[in-house]
Amino acid sequence: MILKIIRPMLIAMSIWQNSHAVLLRSKAARFPRIGNESKTVMNMTNYEELNLQLQGLIEGVPHRIANLANASALLWQSLEDLNWAGFYLMRDGKLVLGPFQGKPACIEIAVGRGVCGTAAAEDRTQLVPDVHAFPGHIACDCASRSEIVVPIHAGGEVAAVLDIDSPVSARFSEEDRTGLEAFVRILEAEWEKMT
Ligand code: SME
Repeated sequence: MILKIIRPMLIAMSIWQNSHAVLLRSKAARFPRIGNESKTVMNMTNYEELNLQLQGLIEGVPHRIANLANASALLWQSLEDLNWAGFYLMRDGKLVLGPFQGKPACIEIAVGRGVCGTAAAEDRTQLVPDVHAFPGHIACDCASRSEIVVPIHAGGEVAAVLDIDSPVSARFSEEDRTGLEAFVRILEAEWEKMT
């Protein structure tokens, strides 16, 4: 009983601390005395902490839409330089827009089309440093410059994709790929328990 009360409080505190750290980082980035080297280090996301927060948020929650909405909000407040973060869900062989943060986006994407459809068709993460150089990229927001899309599996099939866009070229690194693939594994572990 006491755990039921304390756990959401601990998660909320941890998320507040994280968003506070992002705020401090963005403030620090505005001061010229912080050089590019420091900024590069500051741009790195603490995926260990982020993924613990995701685990805490979704564990035991049986509602998929609610969990994906919280997952996209968590990414939005934890990663710097984003203009879109969210999910496309497989419905009748097409990717359909799911919970997200950012501007309104395309509703349906055919498998094999754009970065999302390619991630689903090839069943592997697409890390795109320059979206203009990606054949068939779908520009939902013309501010996007780079993108990462990670497939999400259920029952051995691609059930959805996580899509994150940035207005900064080459925003996503191999560390982001590893961290976000771990983020997706957490969603996959709970996927079948959610409706
Ligand atoms: N750029 C994606 C489309 C989705 S939006 O970016 C939200 C693509 O090429 O699949």
